[in-house]
Amino acid sequence: MSQIALGVTGGIGAYKAVEVARGLQKAGHDVVVVMTRAATKFVGPLTFEAITRHRVITRPFEPGANADIGHIALASSIDLLLVALATANILGKFASGIADDFLTSLYLATTAPVLVAPAMNSNMWAHEAVRRNVETLGARGVSFVEPGDGFLACGWTGKGRLAEPDAIVAAAGRLLQRDRSWAGRRVLVSAGPTCEDIDPVRYVGNRSSGRMGYAVAAEAQRRGASVTLVSGPVAIEPPAGVDLVRVRSAAEMREAILPRAAASDVVVMAAAVADYAPVKAAQKITKGGGDLVLRMARTHDILADLGAMRAAGALPRTLLAGFAAETEDVVPRAREKRRAKGVDLIVANDVSRADRGFDADQNAATLVTAGDEREVTLRSKADVARAILDRIDELMRGAGPAPAAAGGGGD
Ligand code: CTP
Repeated sequence: MSQIALGVTGGIGAYKAVEVARGLQKAGHDVVVVMTRAATKFVGPLTFEAITRHRVITRPFEPGANADIGHIALASSIDLLLVALATANILGKFASGIADDFLTSLYLATTAPVLVAPAMNSNMWAHEAVRRNVETLGARGVSFVEPGDGFLACGWTGKGRLAEPDAIVAAAGRLLQRDRSWAGRRVLVSAGPTCEDIDPVRYVGNRSSGRMGYAVAAEAQRRGASVTLVSGPVAIEPPAGVDLVRVRSAAEMREAILPRAAASDVVVMAAAVADYAPVKAAQKITKGGGDLVLRMARTHDILADLGAMRAAGALPRTLLAGFAAETEDVVPRAREKRRAKGVDLIVANDVSRADRGFDADQNAATLVTAGDEREVTLRSKADVARAILDRIDELMRGAGPAPAAAGGGGD
């Protein structure tokens, strides 16, 4: 059981913090709620008190507060400070070190990990001042559960609504479980599909949900690595604390991946990158009488490019891993892909079955390296991610990345 201070600040979604408190409690954590004065105008402290069975801290210098549960005492006993909902105001105060109430003082006084779930009007979230505060806090190691898109209480639609309570509770769980075995390692992960535009309104895509790559990124983050996630368009939330780079096409993904590879210890290409892209028409294609014939050009194979860069000496310390989505001859094809692309590990997936792989919750795989092939039986994508990272860890502790030559073998 961990002790969590749940900070609640004054926004219209503050009532959702009740669900967060309940979720944390259900997960077995001991929760102490700290409300700002504004938060008490949106939701009553009594509700939190009934759920957490602790007195709710609402005033900084409440009589008695300093005797047992003052900010210094709480700061040193908690395992996590979670602020949900966090307003633009509290982000600004945290970023600039203002300590004018219990929550802001607690933030400065604690050495526990800090997780923040912001919610505000979409223009406020996009404002330069808020962006800068988020960056400052991120650079200090504060993790975020990004706000979602949707209908906002102010009548606007856009990014700014508080993430779902379940997602916030899950992010808190990941931070609490975090180990440090990958601390100091830089991990670059690609995930999701790519969308290749046909014209300004149409595109060619694929059914990748991004979940496998996101699970790899979350697991690397949980192990203490610093993670960059280059993601094609997906409908899922990024793991809290990863550096997210959103891209759309194979070409954009390549531009995001190649320059970041040399500084990475590990690159995992889990994205379903399009192998072909149409030549984009400048104007919307209008229908004619007959069929439409699309001409598609080959895209660059990013993983093969990374293999070739390494063979040329440009990535001396980077371990390279990719996936192979196959519908037949799964392992022999994965072996051949690994050799041809000059990479250390291929995670071979059978995507012909509905219960695993593409767009499914579970996955099974064979981890193909130069030395051996290991089966990972059907399990959740988070557990498959664990198995992949365990294997990568072994490869990194062993002989290091194999100096394979792209297309030429090296096994
Ligand atoms: N990949 C890539 N760039 C591409 C296509 C694929 O980096 N343009 C990467 C994927 O991220 C994956 C691996 O290559 O890690 C294998 O992708 P897959 O589609 O299974 O195989 P391909 O090599 O594209 O071969 P094919 O589609 O012909 O089976």
